[in-house]
Amino acid sequence: MIIGILKEEGSENRVSLLPESVATLTKMMVTVYVEHEAGLKAFASDADYEAAGAKIALKGEVMAQSEMLIKINPPSDAELAQMKAKTVFLAVLNPFFNKELIQRLASDDITSFSLDVIPRTSRAQSMDILSSMATVSGYKAVLTAANSLPKFFPMFMTAAGTITPAKVLILGAGVAGLQAIATSRKLGAVVEVFDVRAAVKEEVVGLGGKFVEVEGAVDDKSAGGYAVEQTDDFKKKQAAAVHDHALKSDVVICTAQIPGKKAPLLLKKETVEAMKPGSVIIDLAASTGGNCEMTRNDETFVYHGIKIIGNSSFPVDMPTDASKMFGKNVINFLKLMINTKGEFKLNWEDDIVKGTCVTHNKEIVHERIKAVINQ
Ligand code: NAI
Repeated sequence: MIIGILKEEGSENRVSLLPESVATLTKMMVTVYVEHEAGLKAFASDADYEAAGAKIALKGEVMAQSEMLIKINPPSDAELAQMKAKTVFLAVLNPFFNKELIQRLASDDITSFSLDVIPRTSRAQSMDILSSMATVSGYKAVLTAANSLPKFFPMFMTAAGTITPAKVLILGAGVAGLQAIATSRKLGAVVEVFDVRAAVKEEVVGLGGKFVEVEGAVDDKSAGGYAVEQTDDFKKKQAAAVHDHALKSDVVICTAQIPGKKAPLLLKKETVEAMKPGSVIIDLAASTGGNCEMTRNDETFVYHGIKIIGNSSFPVDMPTDASKMFGKNVINFLKLMINTKGEFKLNWEDDIVKGTCVTHNKEIVHERIKAVINQ
């Protein structure tokens, strides 16, 4: 098997595989091509990759030589134009929102895998890039909030008087939210948490957060552990409760998502206007519309004295560990398809391989994605 690692573009600092992950592949008898300077922004040089057994080449050669290409972000138009038919392509394709790209990959006869749709089963945990990147985001969101807040996070008893701890409100206790709770608690803040899934209450309390319950949440067990759309009546009750708690908070960290849908709107304009000036809102759901009505994706601004940070790409700011985690997840996934002699086999019997493949033999083969695209 010959695998090519492509360089990311624009403001992306991560690389899909660091040299340490490339070394694992070369031990598995895989030949690895790495695009020139692919790891530079994640502090991995071409020499580091060569030491791990990779060949360095320009993009055109990497694409021409490789049977499989790996990237984090979707392919650029130029990359799509150069991709050979039958290439296996792995990336985070965000397929529910990238209809044209998926149709193009199918018509170009690319076998594509979207790493963001890896089934969320216990066997797939070590391949779950969404969890890895959410861990980075939850951590970095809290540090960014602490850095932006005009007051301390921890309580202090000083000769100049007592400093009360910061109050952090976390909306959504998935992987990012739980990491945000843990990081906020480590910094000494008092933490309150909202979620619609009753199952997370125990974890929230275990991490030292207070779970705020709102009656009447729809918690659908058949949604595979994910949240589902709520009733209008519940949304009203929840908005009122979030309003009351936000007014007492110094920081609000928004992490609530419903897979494949616009993020739920939880923090209304009137709530933001009533919050304490100097407070900080970090909206990790910014790229899917935001949990806060005032959020603008990829923008930071001050509104009524409240700093609003709309950022869904915190992993870009921590490229070393984010790339390390991403690469480890990719290797664990590749081990389902590549044996120790470097031979590649598409094993359709494996639910993780089948559940992650989006296009194959000129067709969209993922039923849920196909249904959304054909709507
Ligand atoms: P996510 O990013 O889809 O959503 C974040 C959180 O927002 C979730 O906890 C969700 O319940 C909450 N949320 C959604 N709508 C809300 C609303 N209206 N109000 C308040 N909160 C709301 O979630 P994430 O982090 O991807 O995790 C989702 C589930 O997947 C969890 O049950 C987690 O345990 C499970 N999981 C399983 C894995 C595996 O087995 N391989 C790996 C990672 C997560």
